[in-house]
Amino acid sequence: MIVTISPAPRLRGVVSTPGDKSISHRTLMIAALASGESTIHGLSNGEDVSATRKIMTALGALVEDRGDVVVVVGPDGGLHPSTTRLDCGNSGTTMRLLAGFLASVPGTHVLVGDDSLSARPMDRVAEPLREMGLFLRGHGERCTPPLTIEVPGGARHAIEYSVPVPSAQVKSAVLLAGLSASGTTIVHESLRTRANTEEMLRDAGVTVESQDVGKGRVVRLQGSRPQPHDWWVPGDPSQSAFFAVLAALHADADVTVDDLYPGAERLGFVSVLQRMGADIDLRPSAHGVCLVARSSVLQGVVVSSEEIPSVDEVPVLAVAAAAASGVTRFVDVGELRIKESDRLQGSVDLVSALGASAEIDGDDLIIHGVGSAALFQPFSYRAALDHRMVMSATVAAVVGRGGSIEGAETVSSSFPDFFDVVASLR
Ligand code: S3P
Repeated sequence: MIVTISPAPRLRGVVSTPGDKSISHRTLMIAALASGESTIHGLSNGEDVSATRKIMTALGALVEDRGDVVVVVGPDGGLHPSTTRLDCGNSGTTMRLLAGFLASVPGTHVLVGDDSLSARPMDRVAEPLREMGLFLRGHGERCTPPLTIEVPGGARHAIEYSVPVPSAQVKSAVLLAGLSASGTTIVHESLRTRANTEEMLRDAGVTVESQDVGKGRVVRLQGSRPQPHDWWVPGDPSQSAFFAVLAALHADADVTVDDLYPGAERLGFVSVLQRMGADIDLRPSAHGVCLVARSSVLQGVVVSSEEIPSVDEVPVLAVAAAAASGVTRFVDVGELRIKESDRLQGSVDLVSALGASAEIDGDDLIIHGVGSAALFQPFSYRAALDHRMVMSATVAAVVGRGGSIEGAETVSSSFPDFFDVVASLR
């Protein structure tokens, strides 16, 4: 689907993002493992989360809508393997977390995904999970999907594991597998990534301790079954980054995004934008923080990947850098290559289409800004199965001189109403 986006003369309003995607996946998984009824308020309505939801049903959990609430009942006797393949769609989080989650479900499982996910490496989860006693098979050295997982009966081995690249997905896969191990599973991360799995398992009654060590963290988990819980899912801070950049780059904008998950590892993009000169504040709100952003004049800065451990917000920050004066260097962001698409190349292509220049230097992304979004060129951009690239391109079109985006339907992976919410600000 090609969507043509026109510039907006003015942007005003208060918007909400869908329920946080990371938390949404985890509520479904933790609730399905527990014996009895859990409720989830504010679950993300994106297709990624609905892939996780369908898989929980296929494994024997009852998942149903009751008004605004999703009710999950985990069977007393535990989940069972599905007779069909587990379709993770476009969602890397579903597949990587599920690989560890399935340690609690003895039998054989086959995990598949769309063309984007089928090209993404699963070796990063396969390696520690093999040490824990699972048998995983994918394609080639990087263990790309389809992924076959054989889970023997009995308990898993508790391991002590240092995650080689900062990755909340890998940490979470090991912790979820640790639930079915006897003893203590220990995960070291050299850079703190989103803490949702630790926080939420603790809420579900599992003994989990975490300790900060320098820029990193050590998490210790005692294997046990999670208990049912009533979950409230706050808004998704990664989605709010699109509105922050939208408002900062537009000449006449004042936008508020309500009730976001306030985890420090998720909000690094705010400090980056503030350092670029953006008029952005975070304020306390009922279920977290709200973000207020207004028209700003931006300058280029150096951004370290440590500020944004999952690099999810880099493509939209690249659009901000394209509108800034001077040079922005994103240091050590090679992980962008293995997201839903090659976002390193995708960001270069997008900002080049806008009239800025960009280059890749090893694992760094360098952008020479044009000085103002008003100087962006009308553009066309092809977003290969990547929701965040679609939303980044939309921001560029609204604040600049319009553009058309091919593959715009992929926005439904995480934010089906994105175009309507942007339109509501016009
Ligand atoms: C996520 C972790 C991050 C992030 C993804 C969601 C999670 O991936 O990019 O959108 O929910 O654990 P990495 O673990 O690869 O950094």
